[in-house]
Amino acid sequence: MLDIINDTVDWQGLDAAHHLHPFTDHKDLHARRVRVITEAQGVFLRDGDGNEILDGMAGLWCVAAGYGRKELVDAAAAQMTKLPYYNTFFKTTNQPAVLLAQRLAQLAPDGINHVFFACSGSEAVDSALRTARVYWQTLGKPNKKHVIGREYGYHGSTTLGASAGGMEDMHRQAGDMPNFHHVLPPYWYGKGGQMSPEEFGVYAALEVEKKILELGADNIAAFIGEPIQGSGGVLIPPETYWPEINRICKEHDILLIADEVITGYGRTGKWFGSDYFGIKPDMITTAKGLTSGYIPLSALLVHDRVAEVMINQTGEYYHGFTYSGHPVSCAVALANLDILENEKLVETAGPKGELLRRKMIEALGDHPMVGEIRGVGLIGAIELTADRRTRKPFGKVGSVGTICRDFCIENGLIMRATRDTMLFSPPLTISEAEIDILVARFKKSVGQTYDKVKDEVAL
Ligand SMILES: Cc1ncc(COP(=O)(O)O)c(C=O)c1O
Repeated sequence: MLDIINDTVDWQGLDAAHHLHPFTDHKDLHARRVRVITEAQGVFLRDGDGNEILDGMAGLWCVAAGYGRKELVDAAAAQMTKLPYYNTFFKTTNQPAVLLAQRLAQLAPDGINHVFFACSGSEAVDSALRTARVYWQTLGKPNKKHVIGREYGYHGSTTLGASAGGMEDMHRQAGDMPNFHHVLPPYWYGKGGQMSPEEFGVYAALEVEKKILELGADNIAAFIGEPIQGSGGVLIPPETYWPEINRICKEHDILLIADEVITGYGRTGKWFGSDYFGIKPDMITTAKGLTSGYIPLSALLVHDRVAEVMINQTGEYYHGFTYSGHPVSCAVALANLDILENEKLVETAGPKGELLRRKMIEALGDHPMVGEIRGVGLIGAIELTADRRTRKPFGKVGSVGTICRDFCIENGLIMRATRDTMLFSPPLTISEAEIDILVARFKKSVGQTYDKVKDEVAL
């Protein structure tokens, strides 16, 4: 049906007429016309004009197993045929949800043995924040309701998630809730000044402690942070940061929520970013790579010390969603975890990431506009800068990143730009030959960008 009408329907016009998109300036979109993605296989997308595009972002950081995985389609079809839906309220469960909860408890860091299901990363974050407040209420400490996050943090687009996140535009436009606070992110390249990365890691962690002392630990429910801040620019903290955060949260009796919506399920070369950095979270929010984005599902992983209070003392937990533990989503997640395990995609993400970074450094390490090439596993970033010696940003922050991103697309590569930082996070299935294509297309795009803006770059 779609093929038949493909030639006759003006998809862009129809989209502009009725479709409101997320995080979009619609006037600008309508002036340019939207890109229609029609199919995908492996790491490649195809658009309505027949262009083949290497997806350097795995969709929105989620298509870990790559496109076109029949195993996932089959798992969904089999489960839809057997039991397409039933809820998990009212003393009811379903087999895929039970099996998935057990499997996630096995994969999660030590002491994390319980799972609450939702549909999106934002809902997982909301669930974590509400659970933190329920936990402290139950323990007779209702004042512990403030939450500390970081500037440039992204925790989703529901009202609680956007409030926990540190994206100023989101706060300005739709308002944020009271009792949320944001401190300096561990972004050495942009904020570290003359400090070494190690010194800055401790400094940034102590900013959290300062905020705790200012608000009073008796008023604080939780600190929330992404192990690596993704949408904020793939900000990889110095190795001194997370050990300090562990200490601070423990000493001040504050719950530590690791938002692993991006870093969960192998992106860093470990199952969780918490494993990679040695984080000791009380709760972990996950989504995206759990189903490789084939179907919506998120999972909040809960440590025994929180779960035991909820189970034994809270009474009824007044929280949940129609689709919590959706059997089809859980069946797809189980099949997706099989792929990650059987194809060793978690173990190989580390070496593949090293290779990608080495090739990126060979291609662009000396480029006058490239300030830093960083990464962990298969998530990374390239800082475009006006002066690589002083790490100076461009005058109009974001303009050069946007130009570069547009050249990338013209050259058949999806990369994301945050400010003037170019981000990548390809499917974990990417091959060495495909890494070469990614690097070659990016190098060409950086060259074209430089030709346009070289007056702004110090040599
Ligand atoms: C760290 C983090 N948390 C939460 C979210 C929100 O997830 P969703 O868009 O599925 O609601 C995202 C989305 O990118 C994310 O990166």
